[in-house]
Amino acid sequence: MATQEMSKVVAASRMANVRYAIRDLAVVADEVASEGHKILYLNIGDPCKYDFAPPPHMIEAVLKAMRDGHNGYADSLGIKPAIEAIHGEAERNGFREVQSIFVGIGSGEVIDTCLTALLDPGDNVLTPSPEYPLYGAIMAKLDCPANAYDLDEDNGWQPDVADIERKINSRTKAILLINPNNPTGAVYSKRTLEKVLELARQHGLIVFADEIYDKLIFDPSARHISIATLAQDVPVVTFNGLSKAYLVPGWRIGWAVATGPRDVLHPYMGAVHRLLRARLSAPHPFQHAIQPALEGPQDHLVEVCGKLRRRAEITVEWAKRTPRVKLVAPKGAFYAHPSLDIPEDDLAFVTDLLKQKHVLVVHGSGFGEKPGTRHIRIVFLPQEPVLSAAYEAMAEFMRERYS
Ligand SMILES: Cc1ncc(COP(=O)(O)O)c(C=O)c1O
Repeated sequence: MATQEMSKVVAASRMANVRYAIRDLAVVADEVASEGHKILYLNIGDPCKYDFAPPPHMIEAVLKAMRDGHNGYADSLGIKPAIEAIHGEAERNGFREVQSIFVGIGSGEVIDTCLTALLDPGDNVLTPSPEYPLYGAIMAKLDCPANAYDLDEDNGWQPDVADIERKINSRTKAILLINPNNPTGAVYSKRTLEKVLELARQHGLIVFADEIYDKLIFDPSARHISIATLAQDVPVVTFNGLSKAYLVPGWRIGWAVATGPRDVLHPYMGAVHRLLRARLSAPHPFQHAIQPALEGPQDHLVEVCGKLRRRAEITVEWAKRTPRVKLVAPKGAFYAHPSLDIPEDDLAFVTDLLKQKHVLVVHGSGFGEKPGTRHIRIVFLPQEPVLSAAYEAMAEFMRERYS
């Protein structure tokens, strides 16, 4: 019997705009590794890939939950002890007018849900440039055009509030802040946050505050302020989770806290809750670690931030002594975003660095950057000897290539 040739299954055209540079480059790294080279990985924001381990009491809590039979679907918004613990922490931190709390499959799913419930095709959210690419991918999926505002490298990578104001248009629904920031490591000042709130107030916008790195502040001069604690009259949805500060990104547990006037948020939260019910629940046993995480010992954070401080210092020292490299010292998270004074694009730079010196960093253009500028994003989670070797190799690569 003659078989009919299958025509290709074609992806939706909006998928052309979906990119995730961090993982795209890992494909090239796999090829280099398959040739027998040992790669120094300074590219993935997963502490478990380096010398960081989750607090043991969280693991015990999950095992116990599994043994106790919490293996079915959970409540769609999250289990009660988890919601109460998140609420308790939010109140201790100064959040008021909490209207809703919900747990998702990583903060990534919560972010996706919040954007999906808000945006019609053609709407936009003001997102930072450089960006964390998850947001661009979700916006592309929703048929929403990019509307990026500048983070100002000359001002410690603080958001350029004048640029935000210039870019608000009739289809703008929200302003996104990532604080502490991926990929720059910046922590935002109270003054910047107040100015953003004022814009949101004037233009009737909701603020999305991605604060997944809020407990990872290692610069003693920096203090993280949650924007939601500065205003009760502006709707703010704050994203957080267990992935970074509690060192379990593979557990896929994140959450959101929605604050602001009840009447203003009510219809929107109704839509968010409907989406959450449609996807049933976040992973059940892992939710049982939320309360022990937030209410139990926090000793690991001292150790984590100590390691990050030392690794950030090594990074800053390397940038200072290396020609063509300029770095705004990071204060939080575990990323550095130096600019490079090089006569080629940063993708060519990182690809050849990987092939020739076996060091993997991500090109700045993968995060969006101002035309004419060149950057790399460094994850400084690796141990000090690995970092030092990687920085030495990068300096050598630049000497050989540009002198
Ligand atoms: C700024 C930011 N937001 C959200 C996420 C997603 O985190 P998760 O989905 O693991 O909670 C990440 C992960 O790297 C991130 O850097």
